[in-house]
Amino acid sequence: MSAIAQQDLPRHVAVIMDGNGRWATSRGLSRVQGHRKGKDSVREVVETAREIGIEFLTLYAFSSENWQRPEREVSALMRLLRRYLKTELNKMMRYEIRLRAIGNLRKLPAEILKEIRHVEQETRKNTRMTVILAVSYGSRDEIIKATRKLARQVRDGVIAPEDIDETSFAGALMTAGIPDPDLLIRTSGEMRVSNFLLWQIAYAELYVTRTLWPDFRREQFLEAMEYYKSRDRRFGLTEEQLAEAK
Ligand code: FPP
Repeated sequence: MSAIAQQDLPRHVAVIMDGNGRWATSRGLSRVQGHRKGKDSVREVVETAREIGIEFLTLYAFSSENWQRPEREVSALMRLLRRYLKTELNKMMRYEIRLRAIGNLRKLPAEILKEIRHVEQETRKNTRMTVILAVSYGSRDEIIKATRKLARQVRDGVIAPEDIDETSFAGALMTAGIPDPDLLIRTSGEMRVSNFLLWQIAYAELYVTRTLWPDFRREQFLEAMEYYKSRDRRFGLTEEQLAEAK
């Protein structure tokens, strides 16, 4: 693939990493082995994104619904996450990657939360790319929390109801300060958004591939970039208005 010019790249890519289980069962392996392979894809996609100049990469690592999976699978996912954070910290420092986490983090086992906070703290001054891990994350929950936050501010007289607009609402979300995703990738072919960044993906381009997450590597990520480049993003405007704005 020829290099894509920076202005043709999405600033923020969000990914629903789906299909680890199917990848494993189709090979007679355990679901946990699928997640383990999925971790290698996470590494490769982070490296590729950093290399080509993506500024923000959000990965849906564990949804609020995933707590309902068998205990064995949940604890295996937690272990993988912990190991990932431990082993990747050096690389994040070397490549100047900042890590942030969003989600209902208080539900996480204490040692995972501690590890997340540690990596967030260590990498906070890195500016080349931000990786946002969505863990124990659900978008409706996030929207409700933002609404409560603003409601409390109105109750306390800090803001007026009229002060609630798209900007202040976005600022009350867990993704405050992070630009909206330009591209949402979902692997394994399902045409769903699964309670992921519902507010933030309002204008995102959608890229759904049948490739299962463990098979989604550098080449597949670059294909998604090519797809994005080919899109004509209009944000509800006409072509003429867009040309004028440019
Ligand atoms: C979906 O596959 C994937 C997950 C529930 C979790 C994603 C986790 C990883 C990629 C592994 C480690 C993550 C990090 C950040 C190190 P699925 O199990 O729902 O697949 P299925 O739909 O085929 O069952």
